[in-house]
Amino acid sequence: MNGFTVAIDGPAASGKGTISKAVAAHFGFAHLDTGLLYRAVAAKVLAGADPAAAARALVTDDLESDALRTPEVAQKSSQVAVIPQVRAALVDFQRSFAARAGGAVLDGRDIGTVICPDAQVKLFVTANAQVRARRRFKELSGKGMDVTFEDVLADVKARDARDRDRAEAPLKLAEDAVEIDTSALSIADAVATSVALIGGRMP
Ligand code: CDP
Repeated sequence: MNGFTVAIDGPAASGKGTISKAVAAHFGFAHLDTGLLYRAVAAKVLAGADPAAAARALVTDDLESDALRTPEVAQKSSQVAVIPQVRAALVDFQRSFAARAGGAVLDGRDIGTVICPDAQVKLFVTANAQVRARRRFKELSGKGMDVTFEDVLADVKARDARDRDRAEAPLKLAEDAVEIDTSALSIADAVATSVALIGGRMP
């Protein structure tokens, strides 16, 4: 399974993280949530660092913190993600991860289009904004964060617009990606659909 890569892209809180973790566990692949890279840069920028310098200095330990999940870091991450020097500094790490022995799942915004254009499987996971905001609100309030549904919906919409409209590596469906709309799908069904698609492409 060396070099077998699954690229899972989609807008904020679409369920791609949950699906990625589940399919990685199912097939025994390694999983990289690439959003964490941008969130880790954002956390350093919020603490006063220069965005490009922070991206170049990133180490895997920076990805561990629970503080990366806050709405403030989320907003900032989509702001640093428009900076070409930030994106460029993160490419090699992501491509090395994708090429590791044993197979890899990477989820993000530009995995199938820019980071791993030759991925064996490309999924594009979507859901309508209301559904996505409801899921994210449940997740954040479940962690004890003081958020309102309206704030979460506004965050999701603002990040989607910024991620889709940016010049560098915008969020879009790769030509050869399969779209999975999870608006009316249970997690179990979305995972089963993904597992079937991936299984069908395995050598
Ligand atoms: O979990 P959620 O879908 O809310 O966001 P995330 O995947 O953690 O990504 C946070 C932000 O990082 C996104 O809004 C994007 O601006 C940026 N990002 C990106 O530009 N490219 C990626 N491959 C992954 C994330």
